[in-house]
Amino acid sequence: MPPHGPDIDRPKSRSLTPLRSLWPFIRPYSATLWLALGALLVASGAFLAVPVAVRYVIDYGFTAADAEAIDRYFLYFFGVALLLGLFAAARAYLVNWLGERVVADIRDAVYRHVIRQDPAFFEVTKTGEVLSRLTADTTLIQSISGVGLSIILRSLIQFFGALILLAVTNLKLMGLIVVLLPVVLVPIIAIGRWVRRLSRASQDRIADASGMAGETLNAAQTVQAFTAEEAESRRFGDSVELSFVTAIRRARARALFSTVSTTSLFGALIVVLWVGARSVLSGELTGGELGQFVLYAMFVAMSAAMLSEVWGELQRAAGAMERILELLDTEPDIRAPEAPVALPPVREGSIRFDSVSFHYPSRPETQALDDVSFEVAPGEKVALVGPSGAGKSTAFQLLMRFYNLQSGRILVDGVDIAQADPQVVRERIGIVPQETVIFGATARENIRFGRPDATDAEIEAAAKAAAAHEFITEMPEGYDTFLGERGTRLSGGQKQRIAIARAILRDPPILLLDEATSSLDAQSERLVQEALEYLEKDRTTLVIAHRLATVLKADRILVMDQGRIVAAGRHEELVRKDPLYARLAELQFGEAEPQGALAQVAGA
Ligand SMILES: Nc1ncnc2c1ncn2[C@@H]1O[C@H](COP(=O)(O)OP(=O)(O)OP(=O)(O)O)[C@@H](O)[C@H]1O
Ligand SMILES: [Mg+2]
Repeated sequence: MPPHGPDIDRPKSRSLTPLRSLWPFIRPYSATLWLALGALLVASGAFLAVPVAVRYVIDYGFTAADAEAIDRYFLYFFGVALLLGLFAAARAYLVNWLGERVVADIRDAVYRHVIRQDPAFFEVTKTGEVLSRLTADTTLIQSISGVGLSIILRSLIQFFGALILLAVTNLKLMGLIVVLLPVVLVPIIAIGRWVRRLSRASQDRIADASGMAGETLNAAQTVQAFTAEEAESRRFGDSVELSFVTAIRRARARALFSTVSTTSLFGALIVVLWVGARSVLSGELTGGELGQFVLYAMFVAMSAAMLSEVWGELQRAAGAMERILELLDTEPDIRAPEAPVALPPVREGSIRFDSVSFHYPSRPETQALDDVSFEVAPGEKVALVGPSGAGKSTAFQLLMRFYNLQSGRILVDGVDIAQADPQVVRERIGIVPQETVIFGATARENIRFGRPDATDAEIEAAAKAAAAHEFITEMPEGYDTFLGERGTRLSGGQKQRIAIARAILRDPPILLLDEATSSLDAQSERLVQEALEYLEKDRTTLVIAHRLATVLKADRILVMDQGRIVAAGRHEELVRKDPLYARLAELQFGEAEPQGALAQVAGA
């Protein structure tokens, strides 16, 4: 079982408590919230005054002797309308602002949090899932934290306000409403619950589908190379279909919900009107009072309906907030200790592995590294060689402190990295990975990734040293050329030189180099080698070697197999005395028969 990640045992709560966690996001804007509440109160007051105005108009407006009285009543009426209009608009603006602001802050917080997670998190969490939380879930919260909140408060004020004013208007009719209300509300709430359950399922299915799409869209070319477009489309189609079916189930439940709630609410209203009409006939009630009463009864019904509508939204938002909180609550296993040990100010770049044993969290049964010890002195070049799966990349990952060790220590510049701030450790390390990651930005920005505060001149100097300046300036817009999503517009060798320029710009004392296995043509190869030579100068270099030139150059070679270091030495002596190395050298570097394969091809 993966150690953590938001997908595991997602608790399905039914309560609104997750929404409480919205408060820290709203609190910084409490002034706006209070203003909105003030506007809401005034607007609601004006709204509740409308029926009273209507009663006066009906009871006196038509019977008053002087036209002046009529004018006055209508003027009051207009005053109420004006107040209502102005304050309702103010409230709407303020709550919308609040909703947008809160959601922008939540998105920010989620991204900030997720980008800091350790690799173990990304092993168990689909990027699509995180994206769906960043977009879909936050949108749900947006509606609730702004407009939804205002509808709830407004409806609550109107509901209770109208109920009280109903009692003031006519106690007997009011009693009727109190009896009818639960009869109407209970089925509505029950169906509402069901709708909510289906909503959650529907959102989950959408997240599944987008997670799946994200994975394959990132590797569209791989999909095409394996002519798997049809199979992948079908797989995605099935997933979309499933989310459709779930969404339709929800829509049906919602339709039933609307039917039941509308019919029962209006049914109740009709009963009240009927009883009221009989009371007017028997003289218990004036026409104006009945008008006022009916308006209040409508307010009660309307706000109850609104509340039950919003209730569903509120539940969905609670579900969304819950999922976002799960993300925000996942603490990375790798983080700075309370009192991190500072690295010595002199950036020497020494490395020491001290009986390091490690297995990946998802694979407790296989030791990726098994009691590994070695030391690299400042400025030394050490090559790691070994069959696939030997643990070479793992050693890099551990040195970058992406995982915690099961036992042993790794020291950088004499400090146990487990006791240091991972960011401080990583600042001393530059990595040129096997596969260069190019971001959808310009050449300049891609190099600047190595050190965000670098000046343009420094970037060009780094590019020159990495033999990248020439091809960059030959591109249509030079350093401002957009390199395309994941660098699809660059050749393999060019991408590598961008990666090298990045590392040069970062200027780390320790360099980790995972040599690309894909071979480049002789010209690119030479350029890359030159760039690397510049980069490796005066730095501690640990390189996963795939080329003869690299191992020949290395001060020392460590031979790894099945998570252990099985031999160490220089190339010539290892070829003689270590059978595993001799075989690897033969296979990987064609050592036994230099240029044998080439000679054959040339001869053919
Ligand atoms: N993220 C991971 N989760 C679980 N196991 C992993 C993970 N990464 C690597 N492993 C396993 O750890 C072992 C060592 O892998 P590692 O990537 O270090 O090998 P390597 O020496 O770099 O091989 P190669 O030359 O093929 O790159 C392998 O058995 C591999 O399957
Ligand atoms: Mg590897």
